[in-house]
Amino acid sequence: MTNLLEVRNLTRSFGGLIAVNDVSFSLRGGRITALIGPNGAGKTTCFNLVAGALRTTSGQVFFEGRAIENRRPEDVCRMGIARTFQIVRPMRDMTVLENAMVGAFSWTRSVNDARDIAYDSLESVGLANKAHAKTDQLTLPDRKMLEMAKALSTRPKLLLLDEVMAGLRPTEAAGVVRVLQKLTENGLTILLVEHVMRIVMEVASTVVVLHHGAKIAEGSPADVVADSKVLESYLGAGFHA
Ligand SMILES: Nc1ncnc2c1ncn2[C@@H]1O[C@H](COP(=O)(O)OP(=O)(O)OP(=O)(O)O)[C@@H](O)[C@H]1O
Ligand SMILES: [Mg+2]
Repeated sequence: MTNLLEVRNLTRSFGGLIAVNDVSFSLRGGRITALIGPNGAGKTTCFNLVAGALRTTSGQVFFEGRAIENRRPEDVCRMGIARTFQIVRPMRDMTVLENAMVGAFSWTRSVNDARDIAYDSLESVGLANKAHAKTDQLTLPDRKMLEMAKALSTRPKLLLLDEVMAGLRPTEAAGVVRVLQKLTENGLTILLVEHVMRIVMEVASTVVVLHHGAKIAEGSPADVVADSKVLESYLGAGFHA
């Protein structure tokens, strides 16, 4: 079986800094994989390289067996990869529904099709009842869910989520976790950047750990939290899973 996504020896430097250094990993379909590591480890840069938002210095990215590195973000999106941004930024003068429709115009020109899928996306993240609200009326958890809905409206096979649960209370994050689990049950594959280890342990089938741009560990959540390199560089000596 081919992997949905395969990242091979991915490298990106900024001047003298190697932000992503020879990173390889692959994603199997219908699973949640977590990408973790300390601040500045290269997680967002990795997302940008996969999504076509940044050019690679070297290395390859295969999606469904096709090389996609250095393609334009809109082409990568049309192939089936969607992403959310670490900083949420809804379009303020538009309603929740209109925001969720934007993603649909990557694959249709029909306003009716866009509206239909936008409702579906809002439904799947639990925001359908706020479809006609203005985005400035949304709470932070709802704004995060709207980012996911916008991404889902592009009809992705792979969703890249950059700290979607940051700033949320545990009960709010638990709601997001349920949404993610439901999405994967319906066949979506998710690559998740997440700092809260409790959440990583709960949702991820595989964890990839970056440190100073390099992959230092990969495995099941239980294996990764027991790894001495991960404990030293990221979780700290006092960490207990
Ligand atoms: N456009 C850029 N130009 C120069 N340096 C950059 C750029 N983008 C990222 N970097 C640097 O690359 C390194 C990796 O950054 P990145 O944002 O990928 O880390 P991260 O793992 O997402 O961190 P965080 O957990 O804080 O979000 C950092 O040292 C950062 O300062
Ligand atoms: Mg980041």
